[in-house]
Amino acid sequence: MIKKWWHDKVAYQIYPKSFYDSNGDGIGDIPGIISKLDYLADLGIDILWLSPCYQSPLADQGYDISDYYNIDPRFGTMEDMEQLIAEAKKRNICILMDLVVNHCSDEHEWFQKACQDPEGKYGKYFYLREKKEGKLPTNWRSYFGGPAWDDLPGTDKQYLHVFHKKQPDLNWENPEVREEIYKNINWWLDKGLGGFRIDAISNIKKALPFHDYEPDREDGLCSMDAMLQEAKGIGVFLGEMRDRTFKKYDAFAVGEVFNEKIEELPEFIGDDGYFSSMFDFNETIFGGSEKGWYDTTPITPDDYKKCCFDAQAKVANIGFLSNIIENHDEPRGVSRYIPEGDCCIESKKLLAALNFMLRGLPFIYQGQELGMENVPIASIDEVDDIASHDEYQVALEAGLSPDEALKIVSKYSRDNARTPMQWTDGTNAGFTTGTPWLKVNPNYHSINVAAQIEDADSIYSFYKKLIALRKNPIYKETIVYGALEPVWVEQHNLMAYYRKGEQILLVVGNYQREEQEITLPKAYKDVLLNNYHDIAKENRTIRLHAYQVLVLEMCM
Ligand code: GLC
Ligand code: CA
Repeated sequence: MIKKWWHDKVAYQIYPKSFYDSNGDGIGDIPGIISKLDYLADLGIDILWLSPCYQSPLADQGYDISDYYNIDPRFGTMEDMEQLIAEAKKRNICILMDLVVNHCSDEHEWFQKACQDPEGKYGKYFYLREKKEGKLPTNWRSYFGGPAWDDLPGTDKQYLHVFHKKQPDLNWENPEVREEIYKNINWWLDKGLGGFRIDAISNIKKALPFHDYEPDREDGLCSMDAMLQEAKGIGVFLGEMRDRTFKKYDAFAVGEVFNEKIEELPEFIGDDGYFSSMFDFNETIFGGSEKGWYDTTPITPDDYKKCCFDAQAKVANIGFLSNIIENHDEPRGVSRYIPEGDCCIESKKLLAALNFMLRGLPFIYQGQELGMENVPIASIDEVDDIASHDEYQVALEAGLSPDEALKIVSKYSRDNARTPMQWTDGTNAGFTTGTPWLKVNPNYHSINVAAQIEDADSIYSFYKKLIALRKNPIYKETIVYGALEPVWVEQHNLMAYYRKGEQILLVVGNYQREEQEITLPKAYKDVLLNNYHDIAKENRTIRLHAYQVLVLEMCM
């Protein structure tokens, strides 16, 4: 495997709208991010991924871009963005922007022009079909609910949107569209970006000609999966994009890839892959159902372990995954992966260490380093996220009561991750002096940066130790490149693995509130990390405390 500049890095995702508001309008912004760069540098972050802050109507919170060359005034100006890149660089941090090119906004000029002249140049930028009375071009269900087709305003045509109706799909089959995209990517890379996180990229290749698939719900529609399974040849687009853009700059590109085909992994993230890395979503998609959120099977510690190990095994000799506990599309990881009633400082640290020490690139989502939790939701009217509103309806239609439907939404809503970052125990968690665009989690009085930063036993300090360990020159090679070897896999509620390189490290976590024992095959040389102050042991047998996690350097 060829070594790359980004292999040993630690990344952090910012959701700009909720990170820090510098001017009191209730919306986080780029000057706000600049003012917190020292905080991030101090934590040990090298790569900063910003969710979209381009000009946008914010129908899907910025994942609907109306101008790829401008910053939305709510987030700041282009000068602010340039300053952010420069200030970050001074701290050895590089910026990734979000590349949202499966679709644009219906307010983008391309789409406006397509409406004016659907037979002209811009009509070919989208997927347009003749409108027929009483029949949609295909029976595909958009990810946010309802048919993936809507009327093209002012015309006798319909357009495809696999996401929201304000997110028309761009026609990647059209070389002019691809040229526009590459031009934009290079324009941004010329500004000094480190690279991109690439949104929803599995969707750019459609199976042609379009046709219906077996309906999977009462609505007569089918999920997008069937069509994507059939679509072949995405690699032609991805390879072209890599060669025309990222490769020339040695940029870092991490793909949001779902449903990857295992035989394609080397092409995706091998030495000369389309992407530098791709996210591991094995844990987040676990238990998902075609029917909707209400039918999800909750994940247990044993499931979590299996998901992680399966993902690791798949890419072992191929490339690097980007490991996440949560992102802006998921509930908070501590609320999801820790059994109900057991969410506490120890269990949060356990989850952090088990995930962080996996082979791959760790991504921390804002607030994760504080152990931020899901937000209580009292009514569907409080919810902003468009996916949650759809899933609420789906649950009601399936016969759940409004209370039950709300409970489901509270559990999986994307708003959980999008509540403002908790900086202090002051008004609005110190996020804004105005009215926050989304309600602050009421637990900010106890969970906030100010309370944790000076406390050596806080979750924040634990993350800082994890990062420092990964960067420690003595262990770095092993932690970054060492093989991952699961151990005691059959032991219930125990997750353990070796990282084998110049040293042998053992990462072991007791994923339950009851104590449990392990017997080490050899003595250990050093304790590199422990979420307790002691280790209860007799000879080589360790009695692990509730949710105790250890990183041990083993004797060779
Ligand atoms: C990705 C984004 C998500 C967005 C969707 C459509 O999944 O992470 O937030 O809604 O793409 O762009
Ligand atoms: Ca603001």
